[in-house]
Amino acid sequence: MTSASASPVLSAHSETAPSVGLIGWRGMVGSVLMQRMVDEGDLAHINPVFFSTSAAGKPAPEYEGASPETPTLQDAYDVDTLSKLPIIVTMQGGEYTKEVYPKLRAAGWQGIWIDAASALRMSDESIIVLDPINRDSIDAGLDAGVKEYVGGNCTVSCMLMGLGGLFKQDLVEWGTAMTYQAASGGGARHMRELLNQFAHLGSAVETELADPASAILEIDRRVLHSQRGELDASQFGVPLAGSLIPWIDADLGNGMSKEERKGSDETNKILGRGESLAPGVQRRGDSIPFESLCVRVGALRSHSQALTLKLRRDLPVDEIEQIISEGSPWAKVVPNEKEATMQQLTPVAATGELTIPVGRIRKLEMGPEYISAFTIGDQLLWGAAEPLRRMLLIAIGKL
Ligand code: HSE
Repeated sequence: MTSASASPVLSAHSETAPSVGLIGWRGMVGSVLMQRMVDEGDLAHINPVFFSTSAAGKPAPEYEGASPETPTLQDAYDVDTLSKLPIIVTMQGGEYTKEVYPKLRAAGWQGIWIDAASALRMSDESIIVLDPINRDSIDAGLDAGVKEYVGGNCTVSCMLMGLGGLFKQDLVEWGTAMTYQAASGGGARHMRELLNQFAHLGSAVETELADPASAILEIDRRVLHSQRGELDASQFGVPLAGSLIPWIDADLGNGMSKEERKGSDETNKILGRGESLAPGVQRRGDSIPFESLCVRVGALRSHSQALTLKLRRDLPVDEIEQIISEGSPWAKVVPNEKEATMQQLTPVAATGELTIPVGRIRKLEMGPEYISAFTIGDQLLWGAAEPLRRMLLIAIGKL
Protein backbone atom coordinates (compact mmCIF):
# COMPACT_ATOMS: atom_id res chain seq x y z
CA MET A 1 0.00 0.00 0.00
CA THR A 2 1.32 3.45 -0.80
CA SER A 3 1.17 6.21 1.73
CA ALA A 4 -0.65 8.42 -0.77
CA SER A 5 -3.54 5.96 -0.94
CA ALA A 6 -3.69 6.06 2.84
CA SER A 7 -4.80 9.70 3.10
CA PRO A 8 -8.53 9.59 2.59
CA VAL A 9 -9.28 12.84 4.38
CA LEU A 10 -6.89 14.79 2.24
CA SER A 11 -7.40 13.29 -1.14
CA ALA A 12 -9.78 16.14 -1.85
CA HIS A 13 -7.14 18.65 -0.80
CA SER A 14 -4.24 17.41 -2.88
CA GLU A 15 -3.94 20.61 -4.93
CA THR A 16 -3.41 22.88 -1.96
CA ALA A 17 -1.66 22.56 1.35
CA PRO A 18 -4.17 21.34 3.93
CA SER A 19 -5.20 23.45 6.89
CA VAL A 20 -3.93 21.92 10.11
CA GLY A 21 -5.02 23.10 13.54
CA LEU A 22 -2.18 23.22 16.07
CA ILE A 23 -2.99 23.26 19.77
CA GLY A 24 -0.45 23.26 22.60
CA TRP A 25 2.38 24.39 20.32
CA ARG A 26 3.77 26.65 23.05
CA GLY A 27 4.28 23.92 25.67
CA MET A 28 7.35 21.74 26.02
CA VAL A 29 6.29 18.90 23.70
CA GLY A 30 4.69 21.42 21.35
CA SER A 31 7.86 23.51 21.20
CA VAL A 32 9.96 20.46 20.35
CA LEU A 33 7.43 19.45 17.70
CA MET A 34 7.40 22.91 16.12
CA GLN A 35 11.19 23.01 16.07
CA ARG A 36 11.33 19.61 14.39
CA MET A 37 8.79 20.78 11.80
CA VAL A 38 10.90 23.86 11.10
CA ASP A 39 14.07 21.77 10.88
CA GLU A 40 12.49 19.32 8.44
CA GLY A 41 10.66 21.92 6.35
CA ASP A 42 7.29 20.35 7.18
CA LEU A 43 5.53 23.68 7.52
CA ALA A 44 5.72 24.20 3.75
CA HIS A 45 3.26 21.32 3.35
CA ILE A 46 0.50 22.71 5.55
CA ASN A 47 -1.40 25.87 6.31
CA PRO A 48 -1.12 25.99 10.07
CA VAL A 49 -3.95 27.41 12.12
CA PHE A 50 -2.66 28.22 15.61
CA PHE A 51 -5.03 27.84 18.53
CA SER A 52 -4.75 28.92 22.13
CA THR A 53 -6.67 27.98 25.24
CA SER A 54 -5.95 31.38 26.82
CA ALA A 55 -4.86 34.00 24.27
CA ALA A 56 -7.29 33.85 21.35
CA GLY A 57 -7.08 37.01 19.24
CA LYS A 58 -3.39 37.62 19.93
CA PRO A 59 -0.98 37.38 16.96
CA ALA A 60 -0.18 33.90 15.70
CA PRO A 61 3.46 32.86 16.22
CA GLU A 62 5.98 33.15 13.42
CA TYR A 63 7.92 30.09 12.39
CA GLU A 64 10.40 29.88 9.54
CA GLY A 65 8.68 28.41 6.51
CA ALA A 66 5.16 28.76 7.94
CA SER A 67 2.29 30.66 6.34
CA PRO A 68 -0.40 30.71 8.99
CA GLU A 69 -3.87 30.61 7.58
CA THR A 70 -5.07 33.16 10.09
CA PRO A 71 -2.95 36.00 11.50
CA THR A 72 -4.35 35.60 15.01
CA LEU A 73 -4.66 32.79 17.50
CA GLN A 74 -7.99 30.98 17.40
CA ASP A 75 -9.93 29.88 20.44
CA ALA A 76 -9.01 26.26 21.18
CA TYR A 77 -12.45 25.68 22.73
CA ASP A 78 -14.34 26.97 19.70
CA VAL A 79 -15.78 23.78 18.24
CA ASP A 80 -17.15 25.57 15.16
CA THR A 81 -13.70 26.80 14.13
CA LEU A 82 -12.01 23.52 14.98
CA SER A 83 -14.56 21.51 13.04
CA LYS A 84 -13.72 23.26 9.78
CA LEU A 85 -10.24 21.70 9.78
CA PRO A 86 -9.37 18.39 8.13
CA ILE A 87 -6.61 17.70 10.66
CA ILE A 88 -5.99 18.80 14.24
CA VAL A 89 -2.73 18.16 16.08
CA THR A 90 -2.86 18.66 19.83
CA MET A 91 -0.12 18.67 22.42
CA GLN A 92 -2.36 20.42 24.94
CA GLY A 93 -2.83 17.51 27.32
CA GLY A 94 -5.42 14.98 28.38
CA GLU A 95 -7.86 17.35 30.06
CA TYR A 96 -8.20 19.35 26.86
CA THR A 97 -8.71 16.19 24.81
CA LYS A 98 -11.37 14.90 27.19
CA GLU A 99 -13.23 18.20 27.07
CA VAL A 100 -13.04 19.09 23.39
CA TYR A 101 -12.75 15.87 21.42
CA PRO A 102 -16.22 14.45 22.25
CA LYS A 103 -17.82 17.80 21.38
CA LEU A 104 -16.10 17.84 18.00
CA ARG A 105 -17.29 14.35 17.17
CA ALA A 106 -20.77 15.17 18.46
CA ALA A 107 -20.78 18.12 16.06
CA GLY A 108 -20.18 15.67 13.21
CA TRP A 109 -16.50 16.47 12.63
CA GLN A 110 -14.90 13.87 10.36
CA GLY A 111 -11.29 15.06 10.47
CA ILE A 112 -8.13 13.40 11.72
CA TRP A 113 -7.17 14.00 15.34
CA ILE A 114 -3.48 13.60 16.16
CA ASP A 115 -2.85 13.76 19.90
CA ALA A 116 0.12 13.59 22.26
CA ALA A 117 -2.01 12.92 25.36
CA SER A 118 -2.81 9.47 26.69
CA ALA A 119 -6.58 10.01 27.00
CA LEU A 120 -7.56 8.23 23.76
CA ARG A 121 -4.66 5.77 23.50
CA MET A 122 -6.49 2.66 24.58
CA SER A 123 -9.75 3.50 22.80
CA ASP A 124 -10.94 0.88 20.32
CA GLU A 125 -11.09 3.68 17.77
CA SER A 126 -7.49 4.84 18.07
CA ILE A 127 -4.10 3.83 16.75
CA ILE A 128 -0.97 4.51 18.78
CA VAL A 129 1.41 5.93 16.21
CA LEU A 130 5.02 4.84 15.92
CA ASP A 131 5.37 4.45 12.19
CA PRO A 132 8.84 2.84 12.05
CA ILE A 133 7.20 -0.01 14.00
CA ASN A 134 3.54 0.02 12.94
CA ARG A 135 3.29 1.85 9.64
CA ASP A 136 1.18 -0.99 8.28
CA SER A 137 -1.38 -0.47 11.06
CA ILE A 138 -1.45 3.27 10.43
CA ASP A 139 -2.01 2.80 6.71
CA ALA A 140 -4.66 0.16 7.32
CA GLY A 141 -6.37 2.47 9.82
CA LEU A 142 -6.39 5.39 7.40
CA ASP A 143 -7.86 3.16 4.72
CA ALA A 144 -10.51 1.93 7.17
CA GLY A 145 -11.45 5.49 8.17
CA VAL A 146 -9.82 5.59 11.61
CA LYS A 147 -9.70 9.20 12.81
CA GLU A 148 -7.75 9.03 16.10
CA TYR A 149 -3.95 8.81 16.01
CA VAL A 150 -2.24 9.09 19.34
CA GLY A 151 1.42 9.29 20.30
CA GLY A 152 2.48 6.54 22.71
CA ASN A 153 3.87 6.65 26.19
CA CYS A 154 7.46 7.87 26.04
CA THR A 155 9.12 4.80 27.54
CA VAL A 156 7.13 2.52 25.26
CA SER A 157 7.95 4.48 22.10
CA CYS A 158 11.64 4.77 22.96
CA MET A 159 11.88 1.08 23.90
CA LEU A 160 10.23 -0.04 20.65
CA MET A 161 12.38 2.31 18.58
CA GLY A 162 15.41 0.58 20.07
CA LEU A 163 14.29 -3.05 20.38
CA GLY A 164 11.59 -3.03 17.70
CA GLY A 165 13.47 -5.42 15.43
CA LEU A 166 13.11 -8.24 17.94
CA PHE A 167 9.40 -7.57 18.42
CA LYS A 168 8.69 -7.19 14.71
CA GLN A 169 10.20 -10.63 14.10
CA ASP A 170 8.08 -12.02 16.95
CA LEU A 171 11.18 -13.15 18.81
CA VAL A 172 10.14 -11.89 22.25
CA GLU A 173 8.25 -14.37 24.45
CA TRP A 174 8.14 -12.01 27.40
CA GLY A 175 10.05 -9.05 28.77
CA THR A 176 10.63 -6.76 31.71
CA ALA A 177 11.74 -3.14 31.69
CA MET A 178 13.25 -1.47 34.73
CA THR A 179 13.04 2.19 33.82
CA TYR A 180 15.09 5.21 34.79
CA GLN A 181 12.86 8.07 33.70
CA ALA A 182 13.94 11.67 33.39
CA ALA A 183 12.36 14.69 35.01
CA SER A 184 11.07 15.90 31.63
CA GLY A 185 8.45 13.14 31.69
CA GLY A 186 6.66 15.14 34.39
CA GLY A 187 6.80 18.40 32.43
CA ALA A 188 8.68 21.68 32.31
CA ARG A 189 8.02 22.56 35.95
CA HIS A 190 9.43 19.23 37.05
CA MET A 191 12.65 19.86 35.14
CA ARG A 192 12.98 23.25 36.82
CA GLU A 193 12.30 21.73 40.21
CA LEU A 194 15.01 19.12 39.76
CA LEU A 195 17.55 21.76 38.71
CA ASN A 196 16.57 24.00 41.60
CA GLN A 197 17.02 21.09 43.97
CA PHE A 198 20.50 20.39 42.60
CA ALA A 199 21.35 24.08 42.91
CA HIS A 200 20.08 24.19 46.49
CA LEU A 201 22.07 21.12 47.49
CA GLY A 202 25.19 22.51 45.84
CA SER A 203 24.92 25.79 47.67
CA ALA A 204 24.16 24.07 50.99
CA VAL A 205 27.64 22.52 50.96
CA GLU A 206 29.50 25.05 48.84
CA THR A 207 32.00 25.96 51.54
CA GLU A 208 32.75 22.37 52.46
CA LEU A 209 33.09 21.32 48.83
CA ALA A 210 35.61 24.07 48.20
CA ASP A 211 37.76 22.68 51.02
CA PRO A 212 39.32 19.35 49.97
CA ALA A 213 40.05 18.66 53.63
CA SER A 214 36.44 18.89 54.77
CA ALA A 215 34.81 15.70 56.04
CA ILE A 216 32.68 13.91 53.44
CA LEU A 217 30.31 12.61 56.09
CA GLU A 218 29.64 16.17 57.21
CA ILE A 219 28.81 17.09 53.59
CA ASP A 220 26.59 14.04 53.41
CA ARG A 221 24.82 15.04 56.63
CA ARG A 222 24.15 18.57 55.37
CA VAL A 223 22.86 17.32 52.02
CA LEU A 224 20.49 14.91 53.73
CA HIS A 225 19.32 17.68 56.04
CA SER A 226 18.48 19.81 52.98
CA GLN A 227 16.81 16.93 51.18
CA ARG A 228 14.63 16.14 54.18
CA GLY A 229 13.65 19.66 55.09
CA GLU A 230 14.65 22.42 52.72
CA LEU A 231 14.00 21.44 49.12
CA ASP A 232 10.98 22.58 47.16
CA ALA A 233 9.44 19.30 46.01
CA SER A 234 6.01 20.60 45.10
CA GLN A 235 6.03 19.00 41.64
CA PHE A 236 7.46 15.57 42.37
CA GLY A 237 6.14 15.38 45.94
CA VAL A 238 9.46 14.27 47.40
CA PRO A 239 13.05 15.29 46.64
CA LEU A 240 14.50 13.85 43.43
CA ALA A 241 17.97 15.43 43.39
CA GLY A 242 20.37 12.94 44.94
CA SER A 243 17.50 10.46 45.26
CA LEU A 244 14.98 8.59 43.11
CA ILE A 245 11.27 7.84 43.17
CA PRO A 246 10.18 4.30 42.30
CA TRP A 247 6.62 5.25 41.39
CA ILE A 248 5.42 7.15 38.31
CA ASP A 249 1.87 8.32 37.69
CA ALA A 250 -1.26 7.10 39.50
CA ASP A 251 -1.51 4.19 41.94
CA LEU A 252 -3.86 1.66 40.33
CA GLY A 253 -4.47 0.01 43.69
CA ASN A 254 -3.19 -3.40 42.60
CA GLY A 255 0.47 -2.79 43.27
CA MET A 256 0.97 -1.31 39.84
CA SER A 257 1.53 2.25 38.72
CA LYS A 258 -0.34 3.66 35.74
CA GLU A 259 3.00 4.07 33.95
CA GLU A 260 3.65 0.34 34.36
CA ARG A 261 0.19 -0.53 33.04
CA LYS A 262 0.81 1.65 29.99
CA GLY A 263 4.10 -0.14 29.38
CA SER A 264 2.32 -3.42 28.81
CA ASP A 265 -0.91 -2.22 27.19
CA GLU A 266 0.63 0.23 24.76
CA THR A 267 3.52 -2.00 23.73
CA ASN A 268 1.04 -4.68 22.75
CA LYS A 269 -1.35 -2.30 21.05
CA ILE A 270 1.43 -0.84 18.89
CA LEU A 271 2.47 -4.37 17.96
CA GLY A 272 -1.08 -5.26 16.92
CA ARG A 273 -1.62 -7.52 19.92
CA GLY A 274 -3.97 -7.57 22.86
CA GLU A 275 -7.30 -5.78 23.03
CA SER A 276 -8.39 -2.35 21.78
CA LEU A 277 -7.23 -2.59 18.19
CA ALA A 278 -8.77 -0.04 15.86
CA PRO A 279 -10.79 -1.02 12.78
CA GLY A 280 -8.62 -2.22 9.92
CA VAL A 281 -5.61 -3.04 12.10
CA GLN A 282 -4.39 -6.57 11.62
CA ARG A 283 -4.34 -8.56 14.83
CA ARG A 284 -0.99 -10.26 15.28
CA GLY A 285 -1.74 -12.54 18.18
CA ASP A 286 -2.07 -12.56 21.93
CA SER A 287 -0.40 -10.03 24.20
CA ILE A 288 3.25 -10.49 24.99
CA PRO A 289 3.69 -10.37 28.78
CA PHE A 290 5.68 -7.18 29.27
CA GLU A 291 6.17 -6.02 32.84
CA SER A 292 7.96 -2.98 34.14
CA LEU A 293 8.97 -1.21 37.30
CA CYS A 294 9.09 2.49 36.54
CA VAL A 295 11.45 4.76 38.43
CA ARG A 296 11.96 8.51 38.27
CA VAL A 297 15.62 9.47 38.44
CA GLY A 298 17.51 12.75 38.33
CA ALA A 299 18.20 12.65 34.58
CA LEU A 300 16.89 15.71 32.80
CA ARG A 301 15.21 14.63 29.57
CA SER A 302 16.17 11.17 28.35
CA HIS A 303 14.48 8.02 29.59
CA SER A 304 16.59 4.88 30.09
CA GLN A 305 15.48 1.33 30.65
CA ALA A 306 17.17 -1.95 31.53
CA LEU A 307 15.46 -4.86 29.84
CA THR A 308 15.36 -8.57 30.42
CA LEU A 309 13.92 -10.42 27.46
CA LYS A 310 13.12 -14.06 27.02
CA LEU A 311 13.43 -14.82 23.34
CA ARG A 312 11.50 -17.56 21.64
CA ARG A 313 14.73 -19.02 20.29
CA ASP A 314 18.39 -19.28 21.22
CA LEU A 315 20.03 -16.83 18.82
CA PRO A 316 23.70 -15.84 18.79
CA VAL A 317 24.40 -12.36 20.19
CA ASP A 318 25.71 -11.04 16.88
CA GLU A 319 22.48 -12.08 15.17
CA ILE A 320 20.45 -10.42 17.92
CA GLU A 321 22.48 -7.25 17.45
CA GLN A 322 21.93 -7.33 13.72
CA ILE A 323 18.16 -7.75 14.13
CA ILE A 324 18.12 -4.81 16.54
CA SER A 325 20.20 -2.63 14.19
CA GLU A 326 17.94 -3.44 11.28
CA GLY A 327 14.77 -2.89 13.31
CA SER A 328 14.71 0.79 12.40
CA PRO A 329 17.14 3.28 10.88
CA TRP A 330 17.35 4.96 14.30
CA ALA A 331 18.32 1.95 16.43
CA LYS A 332 22.06 1.84 17.10
CA VAL A 333 23.77 -1.06 18.82
CA VAL A 334 26.43 0.01 21.30
CA PRO A 335 29.13 -2.63 21.87
CA ASN A 336 28.80 -4.24 25.28
CA GLU A 337 32.09 -2.79 26.50
CA LYS A 338 32.81 -0.30 29.25
CA GLU A 339 34.21 2.57 27.19
CA ALA A 340 31.60 2.44 24.43
CA THR A 341 28.84 2.19 27.05
CA MET A 342 30.12 5.18 29.00
CA GLN A 343 30.52 7.30 25.88
CA GLN A 344 27.36 6.34 23.99
CA LEU A 345 24.82 4.87 26.40
CA THR A 346 23.91 7.65 28.81
CA PRO A 347 21.11 10.23 28.93
CA VAL A 348 23.72 12.91 28.27
CA ALA A 349 24.77 11.16 25.05
CA ALA A 350 21.19 10.45 23.91
CA THR A 351 19.55 13.81 24.62
CA GLY A 352 18.72 15.86 21.55
CA GLU A 353 19.36 12.87 19.29
CA LEU A 354 16.91 10.81 17.26
CA THR A 355 19.24 7.85 17.42
CA ILE A 356 18.23 5.28 20.02
CA PRO A 357 21.31 3.56 21.46
CA VAL A 358 20.86 -0.04 22.59
CA GLY A 359 23.65 -1.66 24.55
CA ARG A 360 24.52 -4.06 27.38
CA ILE A 361 23.27 -6.89 25.16
CA ARG A 362 24.37 -10.24 26.51
CA LYS A 363 23.09 -13.69 27.30
CA LEU A 364 21.98 -14.26 30.89
CA GLU A 365 22.68 -17.22 33.13
CA MET A 366 19.00 -18.13 33.28
CA GLY A 367 19.30 -19.83 29.90
CA PRO A 368 20.34 -19.33 26.28
CA GLU A 369 17.09 -17.54 25.35
CA TYR A 370 17.49 -14.86 28.02
CA ILE A 371 19.16 -11.56 27.20
CA SER A 372 19.72 -8.24 28.86
CA ALA A 373 19.70 -4.89 27.07
CA PHE A 374 19.83 -1.24 28.04
CA THR A 375 18.33 1.49 25.89
CA ILE A 376 17.84 5.23 26.06
CA GLY A 377 15.66 7.66 24.15
CA ASP A 378 15.08 11.39 24.22
CA GLN A 379 11.71 11.59 25.94
CA LEU A 380 10.71 14.66 23.96
CA LEU A 381 11.79 13.44 20.50
CA TRP A 382 10.84 9.80 19.82
CA GLY A 383 9.17 9.80 23.22
CA ALA A 384 6.69 12.53 22.27
CA ALA A 385 7.05 14.89 19.31
CA GLU A 386 8.55 12.79 16.52
CA PRO A 387 5.79 10.18 16.14
CA LEU A 388 3.21 12.99 15.91
CA ARG A 389 5.22 14.98 13.39
CA ARG A 390 5.56 11.91 11.22
CA MET A 391 1.88 11.00 11.60
CA LEU A 392 0.94 14.42 10.27
CA LEU A 393 3.17 13.85 7.23
CA ILE A 394 1.62 10.42 6.68
CA ALA A 395 -1.88 11.89 6.91
CA ILE A 396 -1.09 14.44 4.21
CA GLY A 397 0.66 11.92 1.98
CA LYS A 398 4.18 13.31 2.51
CA LEU A 399 5.77 10.31 4.22
N1 HSE B 1 4.58 9.39 31.67
C1 HSE B 1 5.91 9.70 31.26
C2 HSE B 1 6.75 10.11 32.41
C3 HSE B 1 5.96 10.80 30.26
O1 HSE B 1 6.20 10.52 33.43
O2 HSE B 1 7.97 10.03 32.31
C4 HSE B 1 5.07 10.79 29.11
O3 HSE B 1 4.94 9.62 28.38
